[in-house]
Amino acid sequence: MLKRFGISLESDLSDQFDEYIRERGYTNRSEAIRDLIRDALIKRLWSEGEAEAAGAAVIVYNHHLHELSKKLTDIQHDHFELVVSTMHVHLDHYNCLEVVLLKGKAKEIRKLADTLIAVRGVKHGQFVGSLSGDIP
Ligand code: NI
Repeated sequence: MLKRFGISLESDLSDQFDEYIRERGYTNRSEAIRDLIRDALIKRLWSEGEAEAAGAAVIVYNHHLHELSKKLTDIQHDHFELVVSTMHVHLDHYNCLEVVLLKGKAKEIRKLADTLIAVRGVKHGQFVGSLSGDIP
């Protein structure tokens, strides 16, 4: 069921919002506002940490560094119940990109992603999280 409500905005804010939704490719304001609301609700659930969630940790590292590949694999085995799958890409002679797909309680997968990203020798890492349950 759809509920309608009006929003009052200063014209500056409204103009900037229209520019934002145009850049993002939205065809109407309602869909853009729905996505912003979902984003805020998902952030709230993530901050509570108890919701069932899914996400991806993306890390880039140099596999020539001593024991680094082994360490990253060991950490994943220690938390095998949270790791759905890992994709490994050999970027060039030295560098590897790994995408680790995670599923479990939000605070647990966030912590695991942070641990992987913080391993010494990981050059760059990012975590993207979503919820695995139903999002309205
Ligand atoms: Ni590689």
